[in-house]
Amino acid sequence: MIMVVRRSRGYSRQVLGISIGLLCGFFLATWLRLRWVPSMKTCHDSNIPETGIEMRTLEPPDTGRNFIFVGVMTAKKYLSTRASAVNRTWAKTVPGKVVFFSSADSNSSLRGLPLVSLPGVDDSYPPQKKSFMMLKYMHDNFIDKYEWFMRADDDVYLRGDKLETFLRSVNSSQRLFIGQAGLGNEEEFGKLYFNHGENFCMGGPGMIFSRETLRKIVPNISHCLKNLYSTHEDVEVGRCVKKFAGVDCTWSYEMQQLFYHKYFAKDAFTGNLHTSEVHKAITLHPIKSIPHFHRLHSYLESQRIAYLQLKTLRTLREINEMNRLLKIPLIDDRTENTKLGSTPDLVRYMPNIYDETIAWDFFTKSLYSLKYDTPKRGLDKTLQVALEDIVLQVMEMINRNSLARGRTIDYQEILYGYRRIIPTHGVDYILDLLLMYRRHKGKKRNVPVRRHAYLQQSFGKIQFIEELTNDVITKPASDVRSANSLTNFANGVSSGAFGNVASVMYSKQTIHFVLPLAGRFETLKRFMQNFERTCLVTKEDVKLVVVLFKTAQNDQSLEIIKLISHYQELYPNSELRILSAMGEFARGLALELGASQYPSDALLFFVDVDIHFSSGFLYRCRKNTKQGKLIYYPEVFSQYEPRVVYPHKQTPVTNILINKQTGFFRHYGFGIVCVYNSDVSSVGGMDASIVGWGLEDVDLYNKFVISNMTVFRSPDVGLVHIYHPVICDEALEPKQYQMCLGSRTSTYGSPSQLSNIIQNSKHKHKETSKT
Ligand SMILES: *[C@@H]1O[C@H](CO)[C@@H](O)[C@H](O)[C@H]1NC(C)=O
Ligand SMILES: *[C@@H]1O[C@H](CO)[C@@H](O)[C@H](O)[C@H]1NC(C)=O
Ligand SMILES: *[C@@H]1O[C@H](CO)[C@@H](O)[C@H](O)[C@H]1NC(C)=O
Ligand SMILES: *[C@@H]1O[C@H](CO)[C@@H](O)[C@H](O)[C@H]1NC(C)=O
Ligand SMILES: *[C@@H]1O[C@H](CO)[C@@H](O)[C@H](O)[C@H]1NC(C)=O
Repeated sequence: MIMVVRRSRGYSRQVLGISIGLLCGFFLATWLRLRWVPSMKTCHDSNIPETGIEMRTLEPPDTGRNFIFVGVMTAKKYLSTRASAVNRTWAKTVPGKVVFFSSADSNSSLRGLPLVSLPGVDDSYPPQKKSFMMLKYMHDNFIDKYEWFMRADDDVYLRGDKLETFLRSVNSSQRLFIGQAGLGNEEEFGKLYFNHGENFCMGGPGMIFSRETLRKIVPNISHCLKNLYSTHEDVEVGRCVKKFAGVDCTWSYEMQQLFYHKYFAKDAFTGNLHTSEVHKAITLHPIKSIPHFHRLHSYLESQRIAYLQLKTLRTLREINEMNRLLKIPLIDDRTENTKLGSTPDLVRYMPNIYDETIAWDFFTKSLYSLKYDTPKRGLDKTLQVALEDIVLQVMEMINRNSLARGRTIDYQEILYGYRRIIPTHGVDYILDLLLMYRRHKGKKRNVPVRRHAYLQQSFGKIQFIEELTNDVITKPASDVRSANSLTNFANGVSSGAFGNVASVMYSKQTIHFVLPLAGRFETLKRFMQNFERTCLVTKEDVKLVVVLFKTAQNDQSLEIIKLISHYQELYPNSELRILSAMGEFARGLALELGASQYPSDALLFFVDVDIHFSSGFLYRCRKNTKQGKLIYYPEVFSQYEPRVVYPHKQTPVTNILINKQTGFFRHYGFGIVCVYNSDVSSVGGMDASIVGWGLEDVDLYNKFVISNMTVFRSPDVGLVHIYHPVICDEALEPKQYQMCLGSRTSTYGSPSQLSNIIQNSKHKHKETSKT
């Protein structure tokens, strides 16, 4: 769970708002039970090129960071853009030194940018001289200080930590030339004057020289510069390395992934970054725009955070395990670390009683869950994204040593899966995966395999993140995956989950009730009792206007006017008004009339006489509505017939209990809304031509949805529609009458209660017929 503390600037004084984000930022605990086809004895196959690199076991990193020297070739015009971006992003991740090389006339007013202006070099293209002179500079000044040397472009992203891990698996005392091997493009093939089997390392994704290689070529650089055969800088460096160090560029399938170059892509790395290509790569090339450079950096940093969290979790598990083995008694098994360090297991959570059992959701391409009324539903986006993420991580785990074993395993699909969320621990998955086993070494073959994976994603520690924002509510990012998941989650969540904090933040807004009415005197009496208790007695900052239409038969206007005047006399400081309207009842017109009584910056609450509201709702009405930005559309809890819900009890109708048996949230109701007066007018107001009840509210809702304001919709437990029987006029058309009857029964009771009633009545019927 993550708590986000954000500082908002939108208010006169800087105040801290607090909002809570749930279930975010968890990471995959490696707990994977998979049985594989036994790993094959490795034997060489002439078709599979070998890396030519001698692998050795990992050594702990040097404490001194003199591991690699990276020279970034740039030009005067890119110093303040690309070079600066590199300096501010990946340069810090490199275990060694990063220096920028530019033309002789480059001078940097940019403070802190390590720049070398190479004498006698200009910014012309191709930068062959720049490249060779840079290598010479590295050699002359640093050959004994670093193990590795790299030539990088200024539009490449390099992952220093991955590079270190990779290079430490290689013997740096040998002559090596590492990168993605190229042969030149089709037209040029054969014109680059290479002998058969010779190649070069492509410049874009970067080339790496071991110390020995650089030592060999640099004394002969002038020869290389005098004997250029092509206009390609990387080709010429390759030729020089081949001639004087006698080595080719590493030639292996894996290098294409590690030194990743995206061909023909102007928009490379601007879309979804959550891909295996990005995850596998050590260098990514090309990144043409600076904002995308920073975006990629931020994404990879968030991946690194997730990885460190995972390492923390593993360490905690080890500590727990050691304590157990050493029989060190737990002081308190509820401490956060103990809990986080509990071993992944399907029985980490044990229910004590029947009701505590947590059911699994089952999914294929659809989701089948006991949580929803609908038996089958589409996989929602969040689950889809979660599954994509998990598959990506699982496949990375599975293929970790695949090259050494001469096989890869590709993901095909999830045949089916189970998921459950355990609030105290995390999320469990059981996935039935269809995979393709591909053997590269020895006898090649592809075999489809089907495996069950048991996965557990543990919740991490609570995190507090402080964030500067201009506004409390910001539009959620459209592509969730493109943003940093840790901070993105808080967008769209209103701050101030804690009442007392928020009431300091917000000035109390007057809520202007607009109540359309025709008859219904008895119901109004109940409404006014609630209004008195919730608003008048407590001196809530509210105003009320009742827009009263006359009814054709037994009009109750006089009683109604008397009732409202009575309350006005009792509470002289309040403002209660009656507005008499002419003609046939039209709810849209009534609301329009009511709203016109108040100024344009008034916060309006369109309400119905059947609605029971609480002070909690008033609070949310104020907080979830922002002028010009946010409209609050609460979903009202609609009570079932009390005689069905409480067959044996005389329960007051205002006994508000919210559960499956007592009522339902009206997903389709749009009549109740908190909105600023000016926002109603800005979308064109109510359609006053719609007569009677209904439709006018849907019309207004639609207008808000297509406006540039945001509709905030959510169940509100402080709003209850008190049950009253639906009256179906027999004069209605047969079809409408049937629909009315249908809607009447749906408000009557929950399906299980209704079926009970039918069962009981059958039972009684039998009994009576027996006697
Ligand atoms: C950099 O060069 C420009 C023109 O070549 C010159 O005007 C400027 O003063 C120089 N800046 C520094 C810090 O030397
Ligand atoms: C380059 O990076 C260094 C070290 O992080 C920093 O001090 C300096 O301000 C940066 N310079 C520029 C121009 O980005
Ligand atoms: C690394 O390579 C050098 C030179 O070829 C060799 O002498 C040395 O034994 C190698 N080291 C290891 C650990 O293989
Ligand atoms: C390469 O450099 C070495 C050492 O300086 C020198 O002996 C050799 O003649 C040079 N080779 C060429 C082809 O210039
Ligand atoms: C919404 O759009 C209108 C007209 O296009 C514009 O005047 C208004 O400033 C916009 N409001 C917001 C909050 O962007």
